[in-house]
Amino acid sequence: MHTVGIIGSNGMVGQKMQAELTKIKRPFDLKLFGRHDEIPALDIAILCTDNPVSRKLAPELKNRVKFIVDMSSEFRMTAGVPLVIPEINPHAITKQTPLIASPNCTTTGLVMSLAPLKPFYHFKEIFFCSYQAISGGGKKLLDDFNTPGSYYEKNCVPLIGSLLDNGHTSEELKGLYESRKILEIPDLKVYCHTVRVGVENCHSLGITVKLDKKADLEQIKNLWNQFPNLTYREKVITPKEASGKETTFICRLRQDVEEENVIHYFVTFDNLLKGAAMNGRQIVDLLLERFI
Ligand SMILES: NC(=O)c1ccc[n+]([C@@H]2O[C@H](COP(=O)([O-])OP(=O)(O)OC[C@H]3O[C@@H](n4cnc5c(N)ncnc54)[C@H](OP(=O)(O)O)[C@@H]3O)[C@@H](O)[C@H]2O)c1
Repeated sequence: MHTVGIIGSNGMVGQKMQAELTKIKRPFDLKLFGRHDEIPALDIAILCTDNPVSRKLAPELKNRVKFIVDMSSEFRMTAGVPLVIPEINPHAITKQTPLIASPNCTTTGLVMSLAPLKPFYHFKEIFFCSYQAISGGGKKLLDDFNTPGSYYEKNCVPLIGSLLDNGHTSEELKGLYESRKILEIPDLKVYCHTVRVGVENCHSLGITVKLDKKADLEQIKNLWNQFPNLTYREKVITPKEASGKETTFICRLRQDVEEENVIHYFVTFDNLLKGAAMNGRQIVDLLLERFI
């Protein structure tokens, strides 16, 4: 029997991962590991851990684990490590890629909306502002949020991750560099602000895209609706309705009032599911089906 282990099984992503893995039809033995556990030989290890833990564990596990799926950002931009959203770039996984990274949650919402348009439009410029949920910051942030007087209560905080010397945050640069890697568009222009809002679950993005030609709104809606796990809704949809759902939702598509090649729209999705555990589960399913 194949073995799949979740490392960091008590965390926000680790807990969701346990529920997600029950959706896989292929048989395997699931093993759970916390902070102090020894990790034996496995077919697949899913690291639901922060960067320093993934940085330490991945090389240690290399010789006794066939494939590592890392949910942290530690190896996402490392050459030779595929950064995978199964709906978009499953081809990036091969027998020669024993370490696979799952992308940043906010980036996932952006590229899910762009991937279906890519064969039909060239993206000249992309701008987004994110409205990111508390659950995206892990269980410590959620505990803080649930403590009376939390800074995040009824607030929005325009700083996620670390503030870099160039004035951007690490979260903002993920939106730029990870999007380029996943979409395989090395010169993609992405401008963004990332903001934490006092919403418990589900990230949202307000997105503006400048295309190379006039936007055909009906075609774009159809492309979104034909894409797996993506839905365009004429009615407004918010984090409240998206929470717990596998679908990435888009609403409020409109053409710019002055430029016919510019579109604006709103995306919302469950950051713990498509932004993390569901994406990880899809990668594991693909590995079990094709490589193990
Ligand atoms: N939350 C999201 O929406 C989201 C989305 C995409 C990606 N991610 C990424 O996924 C990773 C996990 O995020 P999270 O939100 O689940 O964080 P979290 O709630 O803080 O969970 C982290 C888990 O790692 C465990 N851990 C710490 N040191 C360990 C060790 N040496 N060995 C094994 N386990 C260890 C912790 O154990 P204890 O329970 O003992 O503290 C905790 O259960 C992070 O890299 C995050 O950036 C998160």
